[in-house]
Amino acid sequence: MRYRKYLAIFSLALATAIQAQEASALSCPYLVTAALASLESSFHEPIKQALMPLIYNPQELSVEDLNHENSPVNMKFGTRLGYGLYGSVYPVEQITGIPILEKLVADGNLLAKLPHRWDMTKALLPRREMAAQAEGQLNNLYKSNLSSIEADKEFPTNAAWERGTLPSVPILYSLKSEAGTIHFKFKVKGMGIEKIKEKYHPTKIEDLPPEMFKSIKDIYDFAEAAFRQNELHNPGQARRLDINPTNLVWIEDPVELKRLSMNKPGFILFEIGEQFSNVDFTYQEYLKTFMNFLQQQKSQP
Ligand SMILES: Nc1ncnc2c1ncn2[C@@H]1O[C@H](COP(=O)(O)OP(=O)(O)O)[C@@H](O)[C@H]1O
Ligand SMILES: [Mg+2]
Repeated sequence: MRYRKYLAIFSLALATAIQAQEASALSCPYLVTAALASLESSFHEPIKQALMPLIYNPQELSVEDLNHENSPVNMKFGTRLGYGLYGSVYPVEQITGIPILEKLVADGNLLAKLPHRWDMTKALLPRREMAAQAEGQLNNLYKSNLSSIEADKEFPTNAAWERGTLPSVPILYSLKSEAGTIHFKFKVKGMGIEKIKEKYHPTKIEDLPPEMFKSIKDIYDFAEAAFRQNELHNPGQARRLDINPTNLVWIEDPVELKRLSMNKPGFILFEIGEQFSNVDFTYQEYLKTFMNFLQQQKSQP
């Protein structure tokens, strides 16, 4: 009993410290000392690891679709597939209330990304709902600027994803609810950074297959082209795409390639998100960061 009290006090202190740390990281960009650290997850990994035990991990959820009055949505989830700093993703095992998603559930292909909430209070963590809404808005922004991004001189030639599509898992439906904005996507079959590490045990970037190496450059070039064009459309407002390696997934399964409109194996992004510090970095720096991830990344659930 006594220990429980100490545990609660300790958890509260940790949660407060994490909140303060995140707030100060946001308002003090000078804390980010190197371009490499600007890739969000290398900077945030320790915060993320400390945070996760305090995050609500639901098995089911009943909410209102706030965009449609009197529309209850009930969901049942499987075991959490992954998480980032902003949200956790779950396979959806049952859903009622959103007819267009019901077929995908039956095929076992649907996934929901929930913004993080505190386990103790069920309140959304600061900035998570903003990030979830931003993900939807960014998808729209990138889609509407796509033809000029494709015409930019930095845009890659012979990339794996087809023209007219984004190199990312598409959002199928965004549910605005009292539990935050929940994005539904395909559950993709591919190799994330952890699996790549297990398969290749690379000690240098050349240990990866050449087509993977080329695809890393394509993603980097896409981010460069997108930043340049978004900046032209909205001077001073554009932020860089978050291409940190935990956001990349290698797709090679033929059925998956077809479903994602890809013409050959390649990397795409789990999400269209913004880079935390908006710092520019060269392709060489990006490769170096990629290698750091391949050598240090810890396991996700
Ligand atoms: N469509 C998907 N299919 C399979 N796994 C996914 C999918 N989307 C995300 N994940 C897993 O969840 C993790 C976090 O997802 P992400 O969208 O990057 O969240 P965050 O915004 O919190 O970084 C990914 O690194 C990946 O492991
Ligand atoms: Mg992510």
